[in-house]
Amino acid sequence: MNPISPLDTLFPTTDQVPEAYRLGEPIEQREYLVDGQLRHWGGPVVTVRSPVYLADTGEDRQVVLGSAPLLDADTALVALDAAVKAYDNGQGAWPTMRVAERIQHVETFLASMRKQREAVVKLLMWEIGKNLKDSEKEFDRTCDYIVDTVNALKDLDRRSSRFELEQGTLGQIRRVPLGVTLCMGPYNYPLNETFTTLIPALIMGNTVVFKPAKFGVLLIRPLLEAFRDSFPAGVINVIYGSGRETVSALMASGKIDVFAFIGTHKAASDLKKLHPRPHRLRAALGLDAKNPGIVLPQVDLDNAVEEAVTGALSFNGQRCTALKILFVHEDVVDAFLEKFNQKVAALKPGMPWEPGVALTPLPEPGKTDYLATLVADAETKGAKVVNAGGGAIRGSFFYPAVLYPVSADMRVYHEEQFGPIVPVVPYRDLDKVIDYVLDSDYGQQLSIFGNDSAEVGRLVDAFANQVGRININAQCQRGPDSYPFNGRKNSAEGTLSVHDALRVFSIRTLVATKFQGANKELISKIIGNRESTFLTTDYIF
Ligand code: G3H
Repeated sequence: MNPISPLDTLFPTTDQVPEAYRLGEPIEQREYLVDGQLRHWGGPVVTVRSPVYLADTGEDRQVVLGSAPLLDADTALVALDAAVKAYDNGQGAWPTMRVAERIQHVETFLASMRKQREAVVKLLMWEIGKNLKDSEKEFDRTCDYIVDTVNALKDLDRRSSRFELEQGTLGQIRRVPLGVTLCMGPYNYPLNETFTTLIPALIMGNTVVFKPAKFGVLLIRPLLEAFRDSFPAGVINVIYGSGRETVSALMASGKIDVFAFIGTHKAASDLKKLHPRPHRLRAALGLDAKNPGIVLPQVDLDNAVEEAVTGALSFNGQRCTALKILFVHEDVVDAFLEKFNQKVAALKPGMPWEPGVALTPLPEPGKTDYLATLVADAETKGAKVVNAGGGAIRGSFFYPAVLYPVSADMRVYHEEQFGPIVPVVPYRDLDKVIDYVLDSDYGQQLSIFGNDSAEVGRLVDAFANQVGRININAQCQRGPDSYPFNGRKNSAEGTLSVHDALRVFSIRTLVATKFQGANKELISKIIGNRESTFLTTDYIF
C-alpha cells in the first residue's frame, strides 16, 4: 500500500478553516477611488479566485473570493484627470504644501491603515496564499516603511532648511515633486512593494494613480476609505481593471510623469514605449531576476543549505529576490543535495493559516502547468527530480522539485521560474559560474557560499559590477529597507531604499542669488514675512 502523501489531505473542508480566518460573504467590490470619492462601477467585473481549494464536497473546489471592477480606458482616464487636476502643473495644494503638513496626512493614513491589519492579512492569505506569519510580516514591514520614510523626509527637510553659500552665490536647495505618478505593484508583495513606491511618491508631493497588482486586489479595498479620508481630493486615485485596457491608455495620454512599476521587463518596456513624451517620463522599475547561489568547495555546508532552502523556497520561490539557480561545486554537490533534500522534506505543505506551514498553493492560473513543463524539458535533457515527491501537483499546489544536474540547454537554466523549482548545476571550473553571471540578461543579486577568503574575495570583485547586491553566506533579499535595492540589465531601473525612494520621486530645485546687499535683504524679508513655502528656514522637529 502507498503511504499517504501530505497532498492527499492538502485542501481542507470549510470546518477545518479556523474560525478567525473563515470567509464571510463573497466581496463583490464595485468601488474605486477617484477625486476623493468612492465611485460605484456599474460595468463588468472580474471574478477573484483564491489559490485555496476547499474539499467540502469530497472534491477540490477553488474558492471564489468575490469580484473586482474591470474599469474601462475612459474611466481610467477620468482618474488620471483627477490626479492631473490635483497636481495642477505643480501649483496644486498638495505639491505646494509644506512638508510638515504632508507628513501629517501620511501619518493620518498610517493610523487608519493600522486598523485594517486583520482584514488585509486575512486577504493576503486567501488571495495570494502567503502564510500567516509572512502576511503579518508584510503588513508590519509596510507600516515600518512608512514610519521610516517620514523620519527620512524630516531629515532631508532639515538639511534643506539651510542656505548654502558658494563662490558668492547664495542658494537654497530643496527636493520638489515630479508630477503625476502611476504606481503598479506585483502580486507577490501586493501591499509592501506597491507601498514602497506609493508612499514616497505621495509624501514628496506627487499625485498618484494606483492600480493594484493582478492578484491581491481585494486586500486594497479595506484601505480605500483611509486613502479617501487622509488625502486631499485627487491626490490618490485607485483604479482596477486589465492593464492593457487601463494602463495603456494612461501611458498613451502622455500625462504620466513618473512610472513606478514592479513586474516583468517586457511589460515595462511595452508600457514605456506608449508614452509620447519619453523625456518627461521618469521610471522606477523592479523587474525580473534570476539570482544564482554559488556554493564553493570550502563551505559551511549546513549554513549554505539552510540559506539556500529559504532563499529558493520561501513563499514558494515567488520572490523577485529568490535564489533561482544554484551552482554547486562537484566536490560537495552530493552532500549538499542530501542535506538540501532533507530540509525540503521538512517544509510543511498546507494552508496559509496553518501553524508552521511553509509551502502553499500558487495564485497564478496555469502556473503548475508551466512549472511542470520546465521540469519535463529538463528531464528530457538529462536532469532528474532528486527529492522525494518533487513536482507533484494538486490543483494550484506544486510540491518543490529539486532538479539535478541542470545544464545550459535547459529552459530552467535561463528562465525565471518564479515558483518552487530549484535547479542545481554542478561545476568544477568557477569560470563557468562567472560567465553565467556576465552573460545573464539579469543582474539583481547573487549569493556566494564559502569560507576561503581568496576565493570569496575574487568572486566579489568579479561580480561587483554585475549585480546590485552580493550576499556572502546568506540568501538574497531586499531588506533591511534602509539598504539600496536595485538591479542591472533587465532587472531594474533606479534604486529604492527608504532614503533613495525620496530622491527617485523628486528632483532638486535650487533658488540662487548673488550674495549682495539688496538680494540678502529681499531673501530675509521673504523668510521673515513667511512669503514662500520653498524659501524658508522652518525646521521640522
Ligand atoms: O519580490 C521581490 C521583493 O522585493 C523581495 O523582497 O527579499 O524581502 O522577500 P524580500
